[in-house]
Amino acid sequence: MRELETLRAAQGDGKHLRVPARTRILEDWLLQSLQSQPSDVTEIQVVSLGSGLDTRPWRLDFPENLKVHWICMDFPDVMDSKKALLRKAGAQCIPRDSPHFMNDCKNSKWPLKLSSWNGLGLDLSSISNRESVEEAARVLEESLIHHTSFDKSLPTVWILEAVLYYMPLPSAEVLLGALACLSRAAITGTLIATCIDTELLEASRKMDAGHIFAQLWYFDCNELLSSKQYISNWNTRREPKTTKDLAKELYNSDTYVALYGGAECAFIADLKQNSK
Ligand SMILES: C[S@@+](CC[C@H](N)C(=O)[O-])C[C@H]1O[C@@H](n2cnc3c(N)ncnc32)[C@H](O)[C@@H]1O
Repeated sequence: MRELETLRAAQGDGKHLRVPARTRILEDWLLQSLQSQPSDVTEIQVVSLGSGLDTRPWRLDFPENLKVHWICMDFPDVMDSKKALLRKAGAQCIPRDSPHFMNDCKNSKWPLKLSSWNGLGLDLSSISNRESVEEAARVLEESLIHHTSFDKSLPTVWILEAVLYYMPLPSAEVLLGALACLSRAAITGTLIATCIDTELLEASRKMDAGHIFAQLWYFDCNELLSSKQYISNWNTRREPKTTKDLAKELYNSDTYVALYGGAECAFIADLKQNSK
């Protein structure tokens, strides 16, 4: 609310905040991605890394002809808090194919709108700091299989929303390579992600030590999309554009410009077919 008041005072009324705009853009892209699956795909999984407190499994209208499994990951303490908050809010977490589904559903204020939901508490650096992409993929797969319904034979949509640039570029590369490895069994995979632009990265580097965003980020969108692991594994389907431009283009909505300068860009990529 403080941010909103400051932005309103500086830029006038009637604009939207950038994070809700980002949320809406990514969920529209996700739903389009699910709706445009080939007709022989009847089951799919969405894995959101660094998901924070997202509530999409209880909010979005997923395609009815598709079994959608949702896995979200964040630090263990964040995931514990998220589960506690979901319980408190009356969100249903029992999978549809569980015998307890109907009972749980009746008692839930927020029924699950897809087939299953799993929240995995995991520090992503335990994956991204591995020596090799193959090892990272193996450890991530083990964790996912052990704790969630993950099935690498299913197509996966990976969501990396405001997450990648919080780790050094070599780590983000290992992670992107590992996601590609895990997608390869299904021969297809989609990445829906965001990354900051150069101006925002520079602004973070110049901020006073006390600022919440000071020295917080490692790289910008150009560096990410020209990195070796990205280029060798992922094909950009939707070129990065700022969430401000996308909100204008998609919804004819004006959003506030962050006072520290710069922007966040969103993009979509598909698994490169000939990647190894
Ligand atoms: C800026 S928030 C974005 C949250 C959410 N994706 C969204 O867009 O609303 C970054 C999230 O990434 C998580 N995160 C950052 N580094 C992480 C790591 N090493 N392991 C797991 N989660 C991490 C944070 O806890 C936080 O929830």
